Amino acid sequence: MDQFLADLYADGVQHDAAQPDRLLRRRNLEPDTAALLAMLVRIAGARRVVEIGTSNGYSTIWLAAAAREVGGRVVSVDTQEWPGVLANLSRAGVEVDLVRADGGAHLASLASGSVDLLFLDAERTEYPSWWPHPIRVLRPGGVLAIDNVLSHPDEVAPFLVLLAEDDRCRSTTVAVGKGLSITWRAE
Ligand SMILES: C[S@@+](CC[C@H](N)C(=O)[O-])C[C@H]1O[C@@H](n2cnc3c(N)ncnc32)[C@H](O)[C@@H]1O
Repeated sequence: MDQFLADLYADGVQHDAAQPDRLLRRRNLEPDTAALLAMLVRIAGARRVVEIGTSNGYSTIWLAAAAREVGGRVVSVDTQEWPGVLANLSRAGVEVDLVRADGGAHLASLASGSVDLLFLDAERTEYPSWWPHPIRVLRPGGVLAIDNVLSHPDEVAPFLVLLAEDDRCRSTTVAVGKGLSITWRAE
C-alpha cells in the first residue's frame, strides 16, 4: 500500500506538471496531509467518512484504508469520474462508494448528524454556498477537514469566517502540506 500510494502521488506530480489546465490536474493531497487526515479518521473512530473531491482517488485511498481499520467506509463525491479512479481503488484493495454529484447538493441531501468525518477538497470558493450543510451533517464530536487553507487563504477565508462565527465549531489550522483546517463540532 505504501509503495502504491508513493507511486500514485509521484505520477500525479508528473502529470500535473505537464498539464496547463488547472481543472485537468489531479491536484492530489500532499502525502503528509493525507497521513494526518488518515490519523484523524483513526483517532476519531470515524466510520462514516465523506470526501468531496475524489480526483483519481489518491486521498480517497488514504481515507478508505484508515476507515476500514475502524470498521468504517468512505463515500467520495466528485462532479466527474476521473480516468483511472476505479483501477486505483481496486489496486489499492479498498472499497469506496463513489458518487458523481455536486458536493453541495450531496451534502444537502444527507441527514443531520450522519457523518463522522467530512473532508472538503473541491473548488474552495463554492464552500460558503454549501453552508450550513458541512456542519449540519456532522454528528456532535465529528470532524471537518479542509485543505489549502494556507496555500489559498483568500479563497478559503469566507468559509473559515462561517466556522469561526458558529458556536458549535472549534477550529485550528495545521501547517502541513498546503495547510489543513480541522474543526471539531461540539454539541
Ligand atoms: C483538488 S482535486 C481533489 C484531489 C483529491 N482529494 C486527492 O487528493 O486526490 C478537486 C476535485 O474536486 C472536484 N470538484 C470540483 N468542484 C466540485 C463540486 N462542486 N462537487 C464535487 N466535486 C467537485 C474536481 O472534479 C476535482 O476532482
